[in-house]
Amino acid sequence: MKNTIAVFQKAKNEGGKVTMLTAYDYTTASLEDAAGVDAILVGDSLGMVMLGYDNTLPVTMEDMIHHSAAVARGSKQAFVVTDMPFMSYQASVRDAVINAGRLVKEGYADAVKLEGGTLFKEHIRAIVNASIPVMGHIGMTPQSVNAFGGFKVQGKSVADAKRLIADAKAVEEAGAFAVVLECVPAALAEYVTDILSIPTIGIGAGAGCDGQVLVYQDMLGMYADFTPKFAKRFADVGEVMKDGFKRYIEEVKNGSFPSKEHTFKIDEDTMKAVTEDN
Ligand code: KIV
Repeated sequence: MKNTIAVFQKAKNEGGKVTMLTAYDYTTASLEDAAGVDAILVGDSLGMVMLGYDNTLPVTMEDMIHHSAAVARGSKQAFVVTDMPFMSYQASVRDAVINAGRLVKEGYADAVKLEGGTLFKEHIRAIVNASIPVMGHIGMTPQSVNAFGGFKVQGKSVADAKRLIADAKAVEEAGAFAVVLECVPAALAEYVTDILSIPTIGIGAGAGCDGQVLVYQDMLGMYADFTPKFAKRFADVGEVMKDGFKRYIEEVKNGSFPSKEHTFKIDEDTMKAVTEDN
């Protein structure tokens, strides 16, 4: 059975943990789904880990729809949350509702995620009023990388921590079903988790959150350009892939691939008739 937003609230109410990973294609989504992850995030991090940009800013609605639809086809049970890309909601509440709707209608998302707190309260409320579940995202919000002056931990001063708390409350009041806390000191994330009635999903926010999310290339050791401090490596898939690619190259060069078992046969008489005619 397909998971719903109830999985998130159940974890909050019963003290469980929500598991969430990013995916951007059918194959990866199918594997994560089979492993039993609660939810899959089609993050705009795809701009970096799939498309090779320096940050998430160039990602378009078309990119998100394309990848979201592929992930949705691979997610039989996992709940699919798709990111609203940079400038798909910032300019107006109307943009926010129309583009959230496209991610659901064309990208088959079960919910959308957008970055920002107090400033985007009306945007979140309007999307929720259109019957689209919204996940908030506060703290280090990558679409604001230029405004932050880099990918930096947020909420370290009294003023910043208070702003983060106000953002968390605004997201909850606007009707979001959950909120991502990214790069937030653990004690502050735990405090926010305690005062909210919706679940918090942490990434670089310590163990006190109601759930965790990671970019799958980070946790599988597949993306070498940048490894955040919070990204534990659970496997070294990058090395396994490189090794497989090297063995393929070697076997094609030395002629041992393809061998008989990977080759199709033709009847000898047929082949003889073909060559005689030429
Ligand atoms: O785009 C993304 O992958 C995200 C996670 C880092 C939370 O927003």
